[in-house]
Amino acid sequence: MQNKITVVLGTGGTIAGRAASSEDNTGYKAGQITAADLVAAIPALQALPLEFEQVAQLDSKDMDHATWLRLAQQAAAHLARPEVGALVITHGTDTLEETAYFLHRVLAPGKPVVMTAAMRPATSRQADGPQNLVDATAVAQTDGAAGVMVVMAGRVHCAVDVFKAHAYQLDAFSSGERGPLALIEEGQLRLLRPWPVGHEGVGLSALPPDTAAWPRVDLLISHAGSDARLVQALLDAGAAGIVVAGCGNGNVHAALEVALRQAQARGVPVWRSTRCLMGSVVSSPIASANATRPPLPATALSAVKARIELMLRLMTNAPDVADH
Ligand code: SIN
Repeated sequence: MQNKITVVLGTGGTIAGRAASSEDNTGYKAGQITAADLVAAIPALQALPLEFEQVAQLDSKDMDHATWLRLAQQAAAHLARPEVGALVITHGTDTLEETAYFLHRVLAPGKPVVMTAAMRPATSRQADGPQNLVDATAVAQTDGAAGVMVVMAGRVHCAVDVFKAHAYQLDAFSSGERGPLALIEEGQLRLLRPWPVGHEGVGLSALPPDTAAWPRVDLLISHAGSDARLVQALLDAGAAGIVVAGCGNGNVHAALEVALRQAQARGVPVWRSTRCLMGSVVSSPIASANATRPPLPATALSAVKARIELMLRLMTNAPDVADH
């Protein structure tokens, strides 16, 4: 357990949400209470060396690139302070996995950056936010912890693996087949696999300060009745890259594939992910050898994380598929 400062960065979400009644778990407004006020109401956290900064106050379905940039800049500034040991970031659950992946790829922090959230508003009789905050703070202060993690419902997930798997239940997050990194049981961390090894981040300097200049990468889903029209609309809107969430093993409707190949031919990179929650696209060397033309490039990332990865790769002029 380290004694360094943990900086709590607030961004909003249900964890900071308020409803008119303590019985109302769905009709609330997210992003109403500051992170400092949330922590002030938790006796177990009062003796800890914590600092607070409210970076945003939004419903994370409305997360945008400008907020990501500001969050990454503030996070980097705090992480560079020698007296700071870790960050805790409060966030909404809806795009938590996206922000986690973005921070993971941009900052690649050597110190722990622990994101947490809640499925019930702070005013709920069954609010889960306070315990999640206590657990997140315990992980942040654990010696040896590093990298961007998500702590929810007693589980610690890696930024790369985590996704929201349930629309309502408190235990809404999963790391799929890889499983969580650790469990938190009565404040004790039980590590299930080693802390992720360090990797090189893209770095803040790679991100244009004006987020309107960030390359536009859009996401499509292949479905029954898919056709070429959405691809054309994306190209007309200035898409610099497209991620398609294919069916099953990344299978794309023939009509959509024709249009995506045309986009590719115009120099717009197209990556293929899967719309399945579990597993990732598996390539077959036999199928590739027999194919009349190369398949659209496949990524092991989920579609929403592939969108971020392709955007970052376009910023660094390396849009070939590579997973992190
Ligand atoms: C949000 O994502 O900000 C609202 C939903 C939630 O936090 O559960």
